[in-house]
Amino acid sequence: MLPGASPSGTFRPPGDKSITHRGLLLGAMAEGTTLLLGANRGEDCRALEGALSALGVAITEEGEALRIEGSGGRLRPPGGTLHLGNAGTGLRLLAGLLASQRFDARLDGDDSLRRRPMGRIVEPLRRMGALVEGREGGRFPPLFIRGGPLRGIDWRTEVASAQVKSSILLAGLRAEGWTSVTEPALSRDHTERMIPYMGGKLLREGLTVRVEGGTSLRGRRIRVGGDPSAAAFPLAMALLSPEGRVTAEGILANGTRTAFLDVLERMGARILREPEEGGAEEGAEESIRVTAEGGGALRGTVIGGDEIPRLIDEIPLLAVVGARSSGVFTVRDARELRRKESDRIAATVRLLRAFGAEAEERPDGFTVRGELSLRGTRVESGGDHRIAMAAVAAGLAAAGETIVEGSACAGVSFPGFMETLAALGLGGSITEEERCEG
Ligand code: S3P
Repeated sequence: MLPGASPSGTFRPPGDKSITHRGLLLGAMAEGTTLLLGANRGEDCRALEGALSALGVAITEEGEALRIEGSGGRLRPPGGTLHLGNAGTGLRLLAGLLASQRFDARLDGDDSLRRRPMGRIVEPLRRMGALVEGREGGRFPPLFIRGGPLRGIDWRTEVASAQVKSSILLAGLRAEGWTSVTEPALSRDHTERMIPYMGGKLLREGLTVRVEGGTSLRGRRIRVGGDPSAAAFPLAMALLSPEGRVTAEGILANGTRTAFLDVLERMGARILREPEEGGAEEGAEESIRVTAEGGGALRGTVIGGDEIPRLIDEIPLLAVVGARSSGVFTVRDARELRRKESDRIAATVRLLRAFGAEAEERPDGFTVRGELSLRGTRVESGGDHRIAMAAVAAGLAAAGETIVEGSACAGVSFPGFMETLAALGLGGSITEEERCEG
């Protein structure tokens, strides 16, 4: 990859990965047909499609839509292990769904997924009445689940995690009585929005969400908005190049997902958000069009506290922007980043240092001293899709050639990442040779 070209033009990011996961799972539980329009077809979502098919759910492609024939909550015992690949969301949410099914299931994934903490869902699901086992006493996958009748619980999570909240809510939909989850800060709320849209009973009071068990869901048409976490990469690339100007169309406007735009604005970035017509039809969340323009002066900032869950996936990329800003860029209260597809605090600091930036690791975050120019280098994605894409962004902003090993794992969340960059005029700067080691 070579520096030089400035990205310019308009693109539509892939469908949101979080909403696609929820649409697949709630569609599988509902009575009747669900049509997911504009679903994300990256590797994570396809892994969940595969697991649901193995559980007897008919999922077919219908033009740009995915058609899911609901099981009415009665899944079929799988013939073998359910493989979720790299998908933490897929595994944790599916575990919540399987907790009420009266059969045995084994859930597994790749080496990265096998290192991700599961105690946070295993404990509440056990409390609800499911038998759940896993490696090291249930702390890590593979998980073994024998579902059965569940009782509602009131659960307080230590971490603000939408995966934990959603796993418990999915189990709660089939439990006796009401189930509540209280989180320390608001995490993405797509599950809470989709359940009532499909006919479920759900209440929110501050940081507590309650769902009523036993009400059946109805299959519906769901339009999946564009994934802000994917759109963030080309937008940041535009900000980092003097002549860059990129517009992302149809991206989710949900405030639990767009805090990275607030941070970029705070850093002085030229960002224009425009409302889009008809965004909230067919269960879709509101969407916006976002334009990012490079060439302006950027300055460092501090991110932490309640903001963290609302931009958790964008932190490695924001750090790259921080390294090209004046002053110091600091991330704190983000210990959760160590539990992602890789230890993203360590991986981000390693990445920044490889490009010549001054970065310092802390237990719950890091600091980067900006202003220095980045120099091209050879870096490894470590099989982590967001690190791979952040490395591509850094490579484009650096002087000299950069080689990102394992860049193809971008397809975990952003199918067509390289094609999108080529369409924005970066084709001459990037060549793809590497395969994903996952
Ligand atoms: C997700 C929640 C977040 C996020 C992940 C997707 C979801 O994880 O990092 O990419 O779809 O619920 P946590 O819930 O573990 O914070």
